[in-house]
Amino acid sequence: MKNILITGGAGFIGTNFAHYLSRHSPQYKLTIIDSCNYAGDEQNLSDIQDKITFIKGDIANIELMDGLVAKNDAIVHFAAESHNDNSLNNPWPFVQSNILGTYSILEGVRKHNKRLHHISTDEVFGDLSLDDPARFTENTPYNPSSPYSSTKASSDLLVRAWIRSFGVKATISNCSNNYGPYQHIEKFIPRQITNIISGIKPKLYGSGEQVRDWIHVDDHNAAVALILEKGKLGETYLIGADGEKNNKEVVETILKLMGKKTTDYEHVKDRPGHDMRYAIDSTKLRTELGWQPKYTTFEDGLAQTIEWYQQNQDWWKPQKDQVEAKYSAQGQ
Ligand code: NAD
Ligand code: DAU
Repeated sequence: MKNILITGGAGFIGTNFAHYLSRHSPQYKLTIIDSCNYAGDEQNLSDIQDKITFIKGDIANIELMDGLVAKNDAIVHFAAESHNDNSLNNPWPFVQSNILGTYSILEGVRKHNKRLHHISTDEVFGDLSLDDPARFTENTPYNPSSPYSSTKASSDLLVRAWIRSFGVKATISNCSNNYGPYQHIEKFIPRQITNIISGIKPKLYGSGEQVRDWIHVDDHNAAVALILEKGKLGETYLIGADGEKNNKEVVETILKLMGKKTTDYEHVKDRPGHDMRYAIDSTKLRTELGWQPKYTTFEDGLAQTIEWYQQNQDWWKPQKDQVEAKYSAQGQ
């Protein structure tokens, strides 16, 4: 494998993945395709622009993807509409990018017999209750709740069907909640960090008891690179770093690390259909491929992330008023 096509490489995780590969695997030639929606920006790749080829385009464009897939050895597919709240307001872009976009890539991969790694989410499994000792495994049945997670589940099922019916050389990974640099400020952790910098109180949806299983984006990407190189074709791997925390604890930790009173937040309207808890059992990835997270404490990863948003205010400030106006119109 030499030429790698990264879809969605101008968004949060894809940007970090392109940086990760250019640091750790300089032998690869990287091509990135991204439509640059509100969450993606070619500028995120400016410091590695001499190491990549960037194409602005839509993954649902079958002809465009056919040509790009043909020219590459492997495709790592991150591109998606990714925010649950947006999917509740307008599901159609999620159907287009997440379902039709994945279909278009699968057809290219099938025709040209290329290697595909499909990036997915733990949300395809639905949610767990707070007192349930269970965690998600590769065998947990799909039960998605939101328009976002149901389109991701659909994309996974398409990949599974193309593996079984057409023998495409694909792997799938389902990861838990990521945090780190370049995450759009609509998302929970960067929203609260940039709220505090802007003198706005952090906002907790509903009771704040909901649990997410946090992983640093570099740990996610290290697992993706490993699966791409050593994963068994046809298999699914769950990625998670044992990072379960409830939302209230996360806000309190951010406030503490930023030198504020840990009670200085407010509760706002809950998300409709809000999933209660996600939790990943990543035993398969750890035992079969030897992956381990580098960030062993959430506070270390969070401190690095807070510092990045403090030092890169030009990156997020132009969008802050608009993002907050949208949330405030929803009572959030
Ligand atoms: P993001 O919204 O920050 O980035 C997605 C990127 O995809 C953007 O740059 C966007 O412009 C691009 N894109 C969207 N539709 C496109 C289209 N039709 N054609 C071309 N490009 C398009 O999202 P993210 O958080 O980086 O998520 C990346 C992937 O990882 C998604 O598939 C998501 O489901 C998955 N995932 C995310 C998390 C998380 O916590 N953020 C966890 C598990 C899995
Ligand atoms: O689990 C993986 C998923 O994690 C990914 O598939 C998604 O792409 C990614 O967006 C993320 O989904 P969540 O819905 O869990 O992430 P979000 O950052 O939107 O919210 C995290 C939790 O914080 C959730 O319980 C809702 C809550 N929340 C969110 C915001 C924006 C708040 O309490 N206040 C907020 O202001």
